[in-house]
Amino acid sequence: MLLHNISNNLSDTLRHRREKLAQLIDFPVILWSGSNSPRNFRANTYPFRASSHFLYFAGLPLHNAAIHLDAGKLELFMDDPEPGSALWHGETPKREEIAAKIGADVARTLSELKHRGSGAASIPVQNYRTSLVQAQILHREIASPSNLAGLDLELAKAIVTLRLTHDAEALAELRQAAAVSVAAHKAGMAATPKAKREAEVRAVMEGVIIAQNMTTSYNSIVTVHGEVLHNEAYHHPLQPGDLLLADVGAETEMGWAADITRTWPVSGKFSPTQRDIYDVVLAAHDACIAQIRPGVEYRDIHLLAATTITEGLVDLGILQGKPEDLVEIDAHALFFPHGIGHLLGLDVHDMEDLGDLAGYENGRTRSDRFGLSYLRLNRPLDSGMLVTIEPGFYQVPAILNYADNRAKYQNVLNWERLSQFADVRGIRIEDDVLVTAEGSEVLTAALPNDAETVENLMAHISN
Ligand code: GLY
Ligand code: MN
Ligand code: MN
Repeated sequence: MLLHNISNNLSDTLRHRREKLAQLIDFPVILWSGSNSPRNFRANTYPFRASSHFLYFAGLPLHNAAIHLDAGKLELFMDDPEPGSALWHGETPKREEIAAKIGADVARTLSELKHRGSGAASIPVQNYRTSLVQAQILHREIASPSNLAGLDLELAKAIVTLRLTHDAEALAELRQAAAVSVAAHKAGMAATPKAKREAEVRAVMEGVIIAQNMTTSYNSIVTVHGEVLHNEAYHHPLQPGDLLLADVGAETEMGWAADITRTWPVSGKFSPTQRDIYDVVLAAHDACIAQIRPGVEYRDIHLLAATTITEGLVDLGILQGKPEDLVEIDAHALFFPHGIGHLLGLDVHDMEDLGDLAGYENGRTRSDRFGLSYLRLNRPLDSGMLVTIEPGFYQVPAILNYADNRAKYQNVLNWERLSQFADVRGIRIEDDVLVTAEGSEVLTAALPNDAETVENLMAHISN
């Protein structure tokens, strides 16, 4: 971790976050950053990602560090690099320098954390080696996210309260992540007509992100098989009649994420059937964004997407019946089986390491309905929240061929008509939408999403 490119406001922002935490809880907290895992020997490691809860209060992606927070005071615990470290990793900043950057009141060695664990709350870390240290320091096993109890649960709820809405420093980072992701998608569109395989487009898109010294905020999805929701294969050839679905987002050096999906035709021109379905998905996308404002229930946004997609599919003759009735029986989920989106922040599915604690309003639990069970966010929207809006249409063989679905939906699904849309395997359109006092702001709006502009852009930029 080098101390370059760090905003002058960082320590003020971190102090505000600590002060807000201190207004919500009155017990000490220890948060660990995590450590990097060796691949085969100690200096050859898997990519390191600091814990997001640590990042929120410590600001920097430090390796193998912990912070102790109490009544607004910040103590940093980390060891200075071992003498041999500079040979492999170069000179890295010392503990005292880092402490000054983040506005820590005190900087101590890790061994000094030993007697500070009793009575402190924490959040389960996701890194195994760090979880052993955590249990040792706290003198207890820390429960899994779904079983958090006592002070740990109180802490998790307080952190959710803070991280649900974004402060100015976070928003500046999120805007940067969005802008770089937009550039990556434009480069992907430009590269597609000449590319032979998905991997080439992925390389171009990630190249834009890497060139900004950022990383991807999740494993990129760049595929002609968009019906595989989190497809991580990149070997398929690109054929002129294919649609390419690219779900690629950047993550800033401080860990803040973007999450964008576009679906474009490999040839640069949608077929009439692809265009029909694309416009249905876009109508749902636009209808949802138009409704976003404080106080609106995100579940209602999801149901609006379901209804809009169902209306479109009825108009195209793929589904038969009244759209509202079809949504009641979850017929939309045959083609739109996931939720309309999720929280976005330091993680792409923000705070899902805490199960549904962040996504679901207190007292609400997941529905087991086919058309609602993957809804990741079910709470009223509030100004300062960042959410994704990502409706889609997919022909997933495992869903469409499932005998129970065949039986249940045999009277509402026109198979013959559907067969005419065989060149549409998967379409998703995903943008990052900030809830504002007046309504919303689409942070990723610089990337076009209507079919004609996408076609024009491809024609313009790929030559
Ligand atoms: N990129 C993963 C998602 O959209 O949820
Ligand atoms: Mn998403
Ligand atoms: Mn996505």
